[in-house]
Amino acid sequence: MHLTQDQVNERLKSKGFLALDVPKDLDLATEIKLLKKKKNAVLLAHYYQEAVIQELADYLGDSLYLAQAAQKVSAEIIVFSGVHFMAETAKIINPNKKVILPDLKAGCSLADSCPPSDFKKFIDQYPGAHVVTYINCSAEIKGLSTIVCTSSNAKRVIESIPEGETIIFAPDKNLGHYLIKETGRNMILWEGSCIVHEAFSFERIVNLSKTYPKAKFIAHPESESQILEIADYIGSTSGLLKFVQENSATEFIVATEAGILYEMEKRCPNKTFIPAPVEDETCACSECAYMKLNTLEKLYLCLKYETPEIKLSDSLIEKAKLPIVKMLDLG
Ligand code: 13P
Ligand code: SF4
Repeated sequence: MHLTQDQVNERLKSKGFLALDVPKDLDLATEIKLLKKKKNAVLLAHYYQEAVIQELADYLGDSLYLAQAAQKVSAEIIVFSGVHFMAETAKIINPNKKVILPDLKAGCSLADSCPPSDFKKFIDQYPGAHVVTYINCSAEIKGLSTIVCTSSNAKRVIESIPEGETIIFAPDKNLGHYLIKETGRNMILWEGSCIVHEAFSFERIVNLSKTYPKAKFIAHPESESQILEIADYIGSTSGLLKFVQENSATEFIVATEAGILYEMEKRCPNKTFIPAPVEDETCACSECAYMKLNTLEKLYLCLKYETPEIKLSDSLIEKAKLPIVKMLDLG
């Protein structure tokens, strides 16, 4: 049975336990470490999680790394501190394991921008097309795909399709336009986008670059074309991390979710990282509100009660697995 987050909250409440009831003096980090050990659970976390969760992760990385990690873990329980589509991917790869997510409402605006029924009608207009989907989509969308990709391997995935074949790319139009430029392949794009990466302000980034003239401007390919055009480097979260470590510059303006700055500062303590400014000066819009739904308290409760759990039907797992495995087999 698939429970909504509200149903999960109700169940916790019926057991007399609410997130707010977590004793204030409980050392949650220690408790989480103990629970992981006791329950043979492994914690996979994305770089966009809050720092304290990143520190507890057994595997910390970008979407591709976490999907690869999910493929090799032997633990009985996977607790996924990331968003829903990431935990779903881990479940599809490990149908016999219990996969739990601290907050089932940790969704993704990009995944939401591609409803399965509309997408099915869209792809039906192009019989014989290869359907390449960015991993930021639901299991249903994956089930309609030829192959999945992440921002780390998208170029390689597109290039694995024979020249001259029709390609549909979904759901991110910004990543899609970037890949058309990079690969020279003429793809049909679904018009989805990410609210976090579309919030960056071109004018404010240009102004900030004048204040830091030596800073390199780096961006995630989910950002809009005009932002990518002025970037010194474009890459996935792990690509951006590698770039700041290897580049001789000491200042970087970073256009992706602000959680990545924690690992950048950790790996390069003598360099300066500035989050790229967003349009709305009053908003912390470069933080993904979905990712940040996973708090330390919820992570603790999730491990303690082994809920909320990702549940998918066997038939959906079967359909969605093939395009994911195809991607993972590419290396
Ligand atoms: P990565 O592929 O860099 O992990 O990106 C995931 C994501 O959600 C970007 O918004
Ligand atoms: Fe989805 Fe954007 Fe959040 Fe990434 S940053 S999880 S694409 S809403």
